[in-house]
Amino acid sequence: MLIVAGLCAPISASAAGIEKVPFGRAQDGTEVDLYILKNDKGMIAKIMTYGALLTELHVPDREGRFGDVVLGFDKLEPYLKGHPYFGATIGRVGNRIAKGKFTLNGKTYTLACNDGPNHLHGGVKGFDKRVWQAEPVKVANGVAVKFTYVSPDGEEGYPGTLTATVVYILTNDNELRLDYRAETDKPTPVNLTNHSYWNLATEGDILNHHLGLLADHYTPVDDTLIPTGEIAPVKGTPMDFTLAHPIGDRLLDLTNSPRGYDHNYVLNSKGKKLALAATVYEPKSGRFMEIITDQPGIQFYSGNFLDGTLTGKHGVTYHKYHGFCLETQHFPDSVNHPNFPSVILRPGKKYKTTTIHKFSVR
Ligand code: BGC
Repeated sequence: MLIVAGLCAPISASAAGIEKVPFGRAQDGTEVDLYILKNDKGMIAKIMTYGALLTELHVPDREGRFGDVVLGFDKLEPYLKGHPYFGATIGRVGNRIAKGKFTLNGKTYTLACNDGPNHLHGGVKGFDKRVWQAEPVKVANGVAVKFTYVSPDGEEGYPGTLTATVVYILTNDNELRLDYRAETDKPTPVNLTNHSYWNLATEGDILNHHLGLLADHYTPVDDTLIPTGEIAPVKGTPMDFTLAHPIGDRLLDLTNSPRGYDHNYVLNSKGKKLALAATVYEPKSGRFMEIITDQPGIQFYSGNFLDGTLTGKHGVTYHKYHGFCLETQHFPDSVNHPNFPSVILRPGKKYKTTTIHKFSVR
């Protein structure tokens, strides 16, 4: 345990606080630390500096019993070997860019392609595979750690040096709040998000989680998951989560392969201000999660590509639908769709966005 800026102290059974522990070394030898945040209700979040990645989140059920509601590993090694972005901070641009190409101010940029023909989640070595600098910060109603990563000009093909920060705040109201900021020295696309896989039951599949999405529209995709450009209504389709219902209810009506949800929803709030985007209720545990964001979209991914080849925490094998992601974001491939909200950040402007995960029981 190390004390940082007077803010880190060993976490006792009852007290709130922040602890920093060594978590191993990245491939290049850089030390990786794990920050353990505890609020005054006993909720615990663990975030490591590799990928500014949420490794554990302990949330009470309706009996007050704490359980870890995110997928991941016990140790650093399996994260280094490769994984489907469990808990990671995603950047410079989350989601897909068609053929890894876009044109900005008359210049065409070519990015690393790491998902068939397309660029996904920042490329071969995105922000999820970088070691971030971290420091605890003071906040009024909880505990917080700020993670910083400076992405050099040209990294993964992107223009401009981008300084990105994400502050993880665990509030005493049982919220995990993520505040993202970024600045650049050349115009560049930016779309930061968090890629946690949720399982509010802490075990089994997620098909009986009741999901509600405040989205009347979504962006249909081609067979490489690139949006066609259409903004389609969800009404009358299995995509409709405007009334909360179990994720598994209409899954069999989907025809994609591997079958499941992997779509960007267009939030009714249009990303103009912080607004409720999604609710998730797990009936066995009683856990209820609300997602509040100022982003215009949310990618609902039902863990379709989990295939039993990864063994996660406590020796549990992650099969299809073991966890789901709700990635608050700008729409996929926005750089190539002028009708989608822009992801371009310019020098002198500040990228600033917030997503809150609020936990309670029912
Ligand atoms: C994407 C999926 C992808 C997954 C990677 C999600 O954000 O929408 O298509 O397979 O990330 O694990």
